[in-house]
Amino acid sequence: MKKMWWQEAIIYQIYVRSFKDSNGDGIGDLNGIKSRLDYLQDLGVDTIWISPHYDSPMDDNGYDVRDFYKVSEDYGTLDDFRVFLATAHQKGIKVIIDLVLNHTSDEHPWFLAAKDPHHPEHEKYHDYYIWQPPKYDDLGQKQFPTHWISWFGGPVWEYNPPTDEYYLHIFSKKMPDLNWRNKAMREDLKAMIKWWIDLGVDGFRVDASNHLEKNWDFPDAKPGYENFSSLPKHHEYLEELGKELFEPNNLIIIGESGGATREEALQYAGYDSHEFNMLVQFEHCWVDCDPYNQLTPGKWAKGVVDVARIKHSFKYWIDVFKNKGWNTLYWHNHDMPRIVSHYGNDTDQWHEKSAKMLAYTLYLLPGTPIVYYGEEIGMTNVDYENLTDFRDVEVYTEYENFIRNGASHDVAMQALRDRARDNARSPMQWNDSAYAGFSQVEPWMKVNGNYPSINVKRQRAQENSILNTYKRLLRLRKDESLAFADVTFIDIDHPQSFNLKVSGKDFDYIVLANFKSTPFTMDAVNLEGYEVFLTNSDALRAKERVWRFEPYEARIYRKAK
Ligand code: GLC
Ligand code: CA
Repeated sequence: MKKMWWQEAIIYQIYVRSFKDSNGDGIGDLNGIKSRLDYLQDLGVDTIWISPHYDSPMDDNGYDVRDFYKVSEDYGTLDDFRVFLATAHQKGIKVIIDLVLNHTSDEHPWFLAAKDPHHPEHEKYHDYYIWQPPKYDDLGQKQFPTHWISWFGGPVWEYNPPTDEYYLHIFSKKMPDLNWRNKAMREDLKAMIKWWIDLGVDGFRVDASNHLEKNWDFPDAKPGYENFSSLPKHHEYLEELGKELFEPNNLIIIGESGGATREEALQYAGYDSHEFNMLVQFEHCWVDCDPYNQLTPGKWAKGVVDVARIKHSFKYWIDVFKNKGWNTLYWHNHDMPRIVSHYGNDTDQWHEKSAKMLAYTLYLLPGTPIVYYGEEIGMTNVDYENLTDFRDVEVYTEYENFIRNGASHDVAMQALRDRARDNARSPMQWNDSAYAGFSQVEPWMKVNGNYPSINVKRQRAQENSILNTYKRLLRLRKDESLAFADVTFIDIDHPQSFNLKVSGKDFDYIVLANFKSTPFTMDAVNLEGYEVFLTNSDALRAKERVWRFEPYEARIYRKAK
């Protein structure tokens, strides 16, 4: 396999709404991103992935697309997009856009025609979506076709009186699922994809890719995820896109798919597959759920972080793709809490140290890294006091579920502050001026109160800041071709250490880290010939090989080959 450009890419994910507001309406936009390209270049990023920028009523912040051919007025115009893309390209930065293919907005013209029997194009577009007639109980009461539960917490069915049918939506009810068995629908989507390729984008992140096919027998089940996730036929659709559009255009294609098996993963992102170049999976993302919490269950139940599981998950995926395909590396995205709050520690005492530890443990591994905006300065979970401070559609359905389960308001609020997706969507903290330098006016979503101490400006000035640590590590990835490095996990089952041996181009590296808030004494590792390269703690202790590791203490050693 010859090396491909995207294997050594360093990707930075931008949540457009929250990165930088350029026109003083409190909403991040394309010109805002354009104005920060130099910052990204300086950080060492060469590829950016932007969250959906399409016209949308913003029920799910743009994952509900109303017009695929239009840029959201919140974010700018198509011309702004063109200029942004050209400017990025001049600076050697590639741009990946989000591709939302599983559903549209309920305000998309296709759906407007589909739901209205009197619409002149009803016939054609009705079948672009997924409909089922109501069921009736013994008393003649209307029932849902099945008891399937959406990913955002409510039923997947919404009644449409004019046709006396329910439509399927596996996310919010404003996001009806498309019918991928309909060829005309697929052709329309392909024309749209082609249009963005012709406009010059460098790749796509394919949203919710494993949900495209459904079980059309509609068996009853609760929650029923197996009926709308990872059904084998969805690979046919992806392969159709891959062969016709992705492969011929030398794009970078990142597929989002939770819960893939080894075989499926290779089907998605093996070198000889025709679907994606790399896969985003979530196995390492929620290794701290408390199974006994009944009030705020599932991902909402904060428990103890299982460090061994994180290491095993990384190792597993590196092994799956070794010589066979390509792996991504990331701590979190816009759907999970901030990593320093989630797996590190966001108290004043440990914030900086744990954020660096998390950087050391991830960014020497092989694969393509995806840095999430704000991660490079250790942005934390939000500190919101009121339910109305949250913006995510999911928060509101889930809050009701918690209260129904018997949770108090305070317990429910704590679960949201710990786990809600909004934690990772608050405005970027550029400096310590009003609204963190994100905007001149009050932003669409409240800035985190810690911005006076956690911000880009401050960390730029400090040689050993989290920001400068990221810079150093991203630089190292390039210099040492770490994308292709061999890695061995040392003592992988240990519940507290996170130790690695990594072989770079010119040096061998050993990373030793305490992943937890308690000190412990590590079993000595053979460091003969190694020197200290980076440490988030006292350099002397590292030099003298002190084996007692303070909370979150982490060191990188290296030895010339
Ligand atoms: C993906 C996105 C998420 C979105 C969902 C529906 O999981 O990452 O943010 O809500 O798809 O499009
Ligand atoms: Ca704006």
